[in-house]
Amino acid sequence: MTGPTRPAPPSTPQEDHTVLSTASAEVVRATLPVVRDHAVQITGEFYPSMFAAHPELLDLFNQGNQAGGQQRVALASAVVAFAGHLLDPGDDPGSFDAIAERIAHKHVSLGIRAEQYPIVGRHLMAAVGTVLGDAVTPEVAAAWDEVYWLLACRLIAAEARLYQSGGIDPAVLWRRWRVVKRQDEAVDAVSFTLVPDDGGAVPDFLPGQYVSVAVDLPDGHRQPRQYSLSQGPVRGSLRIVVRRVRGVDGAPDGAVSNHLHDHVHTDDTLLVGPPAGENTLDPGTGPVLLVSAGIGITPMASMLDHLARTQPTRRVVVVHADRSADHHALRAEIRQTSAGLTDVDRLTWYETGDDERRGFVDVDAIPLTEDTTAYLCGPVPFMRDVRAGLLRRGLAGDRIRYEVFGPGMLDGRTG
Ligand SMILES: Cc1cc2nc3c(=O)[nH]c(=O)nc-3n(C[C@H](O)[C@H](O)[C@H](O)COP(=O)(O)OP(=O)(O)OC[C@H]3O[C@@H](n4cnc5c(N)ncnc54)[C@H](O)[C@@H]3O)c2cc1C
Ligand code: HEM
Repeated sequence: MTGPTRPAPPSTPQEDHTVLSTASAEVVRATLPVVRDHAVQITGEFYPSMFAAHPELLDLFNQGNQAGGQQRVALASAVVAFAGHLLDPGDDPGSFDAIAERIAHKHVSLGIRAEQYPIVGRHLMAAVGTVLGDAVTPEVAAAWDEVYWLLACRLIAAEARLYQSGGIDPAVLWRRWRVVKRQDEAVDAVSFTLVPDDGGAVPDFLPGQYVSVAVDLPDGHRQPRQYSLSQGPVRGSLRIVVRRVRGVDGAPDGAVSNHLHDHVHTDDTLLVGPPAGENTLDPGTGPVLLVSAGIGITPMASMLDHLARTQPTRRVVVVHADRSADHHALRAEIRQTSAGLTDVDRLTWYETGDDERRGFVDVDAIPLTEDTTAYLCGPVPFMRDVRAGLLRRGLAGDRIRYEVFGPGMLDGRTG
């Protein structure tokens, strides 16, 4: 019999650029345990070698996070989580989405560009070789290189989408903003209200988003930090509230927060990046629960301001915990904004003082319905406790959003 009726299939299956090749998948599965066990060691080796070859990157990375090791853990956890996701995508198909979204927003706030990915890739792969030694055969190196580039492509694409939708050019990310008002908001908390110094427009943003602020420190280094926007959009300015971080147990005082407190005054200018951040207020109509502690109040203040202006009849519960009334930033403003809502409860706990509830937040005292969406911001142990309490009371996990004021996520997936 002759005469083929259809073209022969291609000798190799069409390449899918979102999944590992079969050969690499086997190698990654076999080596994932050893990479996972050494991941923090690998990223610990990676950063110094990358900074030695590219000292200009020192000014882009938060050196406080480098000293504390948080960024090392966040990067290691993200790569390991992604490798696991590639091997078993069916386990929880959306599981890596939240991690990728968080990283992409953080990168966009700092202007990370596609052409920087080969630098990170090269030094990360070299660090894998240094730490794992002879275990890294050419096949192992190729397989993990494939993991890196699948992740890099995913992040580059997500970041390109964010740059495009925000009209942002990462090559000219930083704009100069002028401080039009500086105000003490509580013990060790100061607000800065900013307008563009270049005469350009104030960018639109979503309540809950942050900006990166870069300062030139006396040692000659430039350092960026993120600060949540603490008012709703369309006010013609941006406002941040900065808590002074004091060094404890011999650690140095926080570099940028102290610089802002001590050296930045009305009419000074600051370099500010575009608004970014994925933990934003759901624009729906369901009940909203805002739970903050300490300086974690800033994104909540933005959400509350926006709700009061655009949805004053939406059900809102505002919960805040602080050391004392003196430490409670934006206290009077939150009270006043809440008064503009028709269906609101406000619950406050102070560790000391008699003017509100005493001690730590009692989750059982929070009015809650199962259609509530909760937003959490504060120290990680605080958020873990509140989240556990809300889950115990029956709130679904996907209804609990949170912002960590540092690298990583609550469940250890990136730190
Ligand atoms: C999304 C997001 C939103 C945020 N929003 C806000 C906000 O609205 N308001 C706000 O105040 N903050 C906010 N932050 C936190 C802010 O970005 C900074 O982390 C904070 O201001 C501290 O920065 P710093 O430069 O003062 O401290 P860093 O210099 O970064 O120091 C941080 C900690 O590391 C310790 N440390 C530094 N160097 C060393 C060393 N060599 N050895 C040992 N320990 C060391 C310091 O003692 C300090 O405890 C936010 C963070 C994120 C990620
Ligand atoms: C696949 C490659 C990459 C991965 C997996 C990755 C992962 C991460 C993670 C997990 C974080 C912390 C996010 C958080 O705040 O929770 C982060 C932050 C950051 N990344 Fe990346 N990243 C990659 C590529 C890059 C590149 C190419 C650059 C540019 C040189 C870069 C620069 C930064 C900077 C400056 C931060 C903020 C660090 C800090 O504030 O301490 N990253 N990245």
